[in-house]
Amino acid sequence: MVLVLNFGSQFAHLIARRVRDLGVRAEILRFDVPALKIQELKPAGIILSGGPASVLEKGSPRPDRRIFDLGVPILGICYGEQVIAEMLGGKVKAGTRREFGKETLSVLDRTGIFLGLSKEETVWFSHGDQVTGLPKGFIRLASTLGCPNAGVADLKRRIWGVQFHPEVTHTVSGIRIISNFVFQVCRAKQDWKIASVRSGLTQSLKRKIGENHILVGVSGGVDSLVVATLLNEAVGGSCHAVFVDTGLLRKGEAEQVVKVFKDLRLKNFHLLGAKDLFLKRLQGVTDPEKKRKIIGHTFIEVFEKFIKTKLSKHKIKYFAQGTIYPDRIESAEPGGHASKIKSHHNLTLPAKLGFEVVEPIRDLYKDEVRRLGKLLGLPKDLLWRHPFPGPGLAVRIVGEVTPDRLRILREADSIYMEELEGAGEYEKIWQAFAVLLPLKTVGVMGDARTYEYMISLRAVDSVDGMSADWHKMPVEVLEKVSSRIVREVRGVNRVLYDVTQKPPATVEYE
Ligand code: XMP
Repeated sequence: MVLVLNFGSQFAHLIARRVRDLGVRAEILRFDVPALKIQELKPAGIILSGGPASVLEKGSPRPDRRIFDLGVPILGICYGEQVIAEMLGGKVKAGTRREFGKETLSVLDRTGIFLGLSKEETVWFSHGDQVTGLPKGFIRLASTLGCPNAGVADLKRRIWGVQFHPEVTHTVSGIRIISNFVFQVCRAKQDWKIASVRSGLTQSLKRKIGENHILVGVSGGVDSLVVATLLNEAVGGSCHAVFVDTGLLRKGEAEQVVKVFKDLRLKNFHLLGAKDLFLKRLQGVTDPEKKRKIIGHTFIEVFEKFIKTKLSKHKIKYFAQGTIYPDRIESAEPGGHASKIKSHHNLTLPAKLGFEVVEPIRDLYKDEVRRLGKLLGLPKDLLWRHPFPGPGLAVRIVGEVTPDRLRILREADSIYMEELEGAGEYEKIWQAFAVLLPLKTVGVMGDARTYEYMISLRAVDSVDGMSADWHKMPVEVLEKVSSRIVREVRGVNRVLYDVTQKPPATVEYE
């Protein structure tokens, strides 16, 4: 396993993913994890990530000094390199010429992590400070015009440092550099394969659940569907999957989930129809936080009632959730999101009913979950579906949720998705959806005046939803979607395209 110590970099996950893509297990830990704990984990290597701080600032993050004495190879990236230099007696200075973006790297010695590279390589920088004095035992292996110590190493102690970011795709030979570190320097074994992850998970779920029963809430999203399928493989009839039709789903969604369970012949699938209940509870409610809370509580109520009436004869001890690796890491990260922007709807059933939570895919990244889902036989369109929030269309209708507004939004959204897929844009986008703005404006259709709602189209590019940029959509697609919506959806006479980034906006509207 290769350990990534996270100094608050937006790329820490990318580093771990690159390592896993090479077939080697990678884990992210906080920058200050004690060396003793690291020793227990027996990593083949340690990567120190970049980070937004400066080693020149008082109180900026440092790893446990003893990691340099473990005899485990280390690679410091950007801030990671500067931390190594500073802690081992070198010098770091605020850069005179700030290096950001693409630079040409001259590789002076094509050895170790630089094995097989060209003499000149395109690399990507994102930090102002740089190492100006090397610690004892270190040599310079690569430079750029503005940064002489862009690649350095203590070959004897197997400690390496690069000022640029090999994990981002702008660094053309970045993967080769990481691969060299992992295999040439660390001699790590290639034993992280999705097929073995699948059999490992099935075995351990079988052992854990034993003679007990487990409940899994299915949302229609990839993660919970993969968990349900995996559980079926592991314990078959002892797994009970529950899907609540809240009436806040997209067009055809409930039908699609039902079909998947049928096609895969998954046992004990329960579709709970609760449209009327959710709509009744949401009647007259306009405040976003109130809407979210009501939906969360109603979910629990529906679940509880179902368990008490239909599952009371089974000994249900466990409740499975589709938590994945980034969900879990974010809160532990330095500077991880501290303030509550929205109360994300998560089922809090276990606490109320005394279930023990099981999170089978808690160590996997989204792309790994998708590969696992593919192996388990889930259909491609479902695996590659954009994320969908727990409260569903309720947070995409600004203000009160009514049956008519739901109809309008569902139809508009379905046209939008159809056109995105037809134009080959859907898979380029991280998340796209339509939003109903409950604001009426004047229009003209035929010879008649109209006075109707607007639809806002949202499409964002993002890695994890934490920050996002608006998608640069081809105008022809926008034109077609807009004219189809206005023509085909009764109740809409205006379509807008949202060109706001997150931050300052959020992805969803409520
Ligand atoms: P925001 O709107 O917070 O969205 O910028 C970021 C990502 O999170 C999704 N989202 C949710 N997912 N329950 C979920 O499971 C929720 O309550 C929820 N609210 C937002 C959103 O779709 C986007 O992908």
